[in-house]
Amino acid sequence: MKTVSVALGARSYDVRIGQGLIAGAAEQIKPLLRRPRIVVITDENVAGTQLPALQASLEAEGIAVEALILPAGEGTKGWPQFTRTVEWLLDRKVERRDIVIALGGGVIGDLAGFASAVLRRGVRFVQIPTSLLAMVDSSVGGKTGINTAQGKNLVGAFHQPSLVLADIWALATLPEREFLAGYGEVVKYGLLGDATFFEWLEKNAPAMAEGDDALRLEAVAHSVAMKAAIVERDETEEGERALLNLGHTFCHALEKATGYSDRLLHGEGVAIGCLMAMELSRKLNLVPQEAPSRLAAHLRGMGMKTTLQDIPGGLPDAAALLHLMGQDKKVQDGQLRFILMKDIGDAFIADDVPSDLVIEVLEGR
Ligand code: GLY
Repeated sequence: MKTVSVALGARSYDVRIGQGLIAGAAEQIKPLLRRPRIVVITDENVAGTQLPALQASLEAEGIAVEALILPAGEGTKGWPQFTRTVEWLLDRKVERRDIVIALGGGVIGDLAGFASAVLRRGVRFVQIPTSLLAMVDSSVGGKTGINTAQGKNLVGAFHQPSLVLADIWALATLPEREFLAGYGEVVKYGLLGDATFFEWLEKNAPAMAEGDDALRLEAVAHSVAMKAAIVERDETEEGERALLNLGHTFCHALEKATGYSDRLLHGEGVAIGCLMAMELSRKLNLVPQEAPSRLAAHLRGMGMKTTLQDIPGGLPDAAALLHLMGQDKKVQDGQLRFILMKDIGDAFIADDVPSDLVIEVLEGR
């Protein structure tokens, strides 16, 4: 097991990454409990694959477990299921001394985390991420929230978990498409701050996708360590944390244009968005000419989507996509914000990008 500590004073916590952590969860969680009961928020898919092992581990230690099983999918991350979750927790008389477990991918982590943030003005929660995306990004750093009709993640709170348990074995049950979508967030770390990690991924990611657990553990731990370091320096995204949004301005517009449907998974949009940010950087003569093709070759080699044409079902034109970017919450004072790169491994925040270049990138020119 590898442990990455997120040092945030009184809100510090461990991210433990290992094999079999769900089946051994009681040992990890018991020290946090003030009474022998726990509530779990999960979804229909994860309830089938991971909940029985978690429940067995806790119950074997005499801990009473109750679980709320929500529908799977991005559609769950909105007001109706949020209200249902909060009311379910209140009905079960969950108190501030209790622990809520979020067992699932990014949707469950964000929703259960937000419910924990507002329930009785804040109860503790443990993230048990079961998707690659949730392990390397959404379960770490305390961003919680839901989507509304106006856009993604527009309502939420910073609420740090008390513990994160990333069980690499859970990745074995992920459909290949979901694994690769999560890989979009892993590549992001190499691009935003660690060229050596990007090179490591070029060499090792194919075997990782094939199922090599040691490489998976290494990649998750490295990604989490990078994220933890950024979050420690900038918990509430006053500055540097925005680098973690590399690829996300493009991605959020594409997700909105595809109705948050399974035409485009979040991590797929991140990968395409990173490539577009790279292309935008090339148009501004910031990155070496060959950097976009190197990234595109790696993503294609992994069998990932790299262009808008890879998204099924047609998209609005570039001007409409640009307009959708304007709805993104990262807009500051009416200026679109992009994370650009000076090279692979060297990202920075740019607030003054000409919109005609963004249109060119969206049109693939
Ligand atoms: N997912 C971006 C962040 O946590 O800041």
